[in-house]
Amino acid sequence: MTFAGPVSAVGFAGAAGLAGAVGFDGAAGGVGHLAVQIAAARGAWVAGTSSAAKHGFLRELGIDEALDRDEPVVVGDVDVVLDAVGGEVGLGALPALRDGGVLVTVSGSSVPGLVEAAAGRVRVAGILVEPDRVGMQALAALAAEGKLRPQVERTFPLEEAGAAHALGEQGRTRGKLVLRV
Ligand SMILES: NC(=O)c1ccc[n+]([C@@H]2O[C@H](COP(=O)([O-])OP(=O)(O)OC[C@H]3O[C@@H](n4cnc5c(N)ncnc54)[C@H](OP(=O)(O)O)[C@@H]3O)[C@@H](O)[C@H]2O)c1
Repeated sequence: MTFAGPVSAVGFAGAAGLAGAVGFDGAAGGVGHLAVQIAAARGAWVAGTSSAAKHGFLRELGIDEALDRDEPVVVGDVDVVLDAVGGEVGLGALPALRDGGVLVTVSGSSVPGLVEAAAGRVRVAGILVEPDRVGMQALAALAAEGKLRPQVERTFPLEEAGAAHALGEQGRTRGKLVLRV
């Protein structure tokens, strides 16, 4: 949770403070599945994309609207979207945002293209998170309350770190992959 947790929290709270409606690309992944729980715990209405097979997982996390990552977005008037995938994926989220909404992306290289496509209608920001004590304490409090539960798809012994990386590189992780040291 050291990196994925803070990036989720900052991406969600972001420039918009406590938002009413938030959306996430990559909602079932390492960053996204934490972000969904944080937003839900704060009382936001939450939508997020994943492959269809993971929609049940998203609902278990507390999501209100599970969206198919391969279909055009069907929600609107969203205050904040966290693009937890990168590349050009964030472009698909633009129609979901209200005028003046905020699109935060984990991928700094995606920012220029998103800014151009947003054409001033929504704000765009990239984030690069470093772990910080206050942020981690807030996440620990949520975890202690049972509102933030990291989900582990698979645990590997340290000597299989290569296999863990290879699986992670596929970009289809549900929750987190764990290395046991
Ligand atoms: N900026 C920062 O500080 C920071 C911090 C941590 C991580 N990151 C970055 O954030 C990204 C996500 O990390 P992660 O750990 O969450 O990765 P992950 O666990 O691999 O999850 C990525 C998720 O994205 C979805 N996805 C993959 N390709 C997609 C596509 N073409 N369209 C839509 N959805 C797609 C996948 O879900 P489905 O299989 O359901 O589609 C997957 O669950 C990585 O690039 C990582 O480097 C940045």
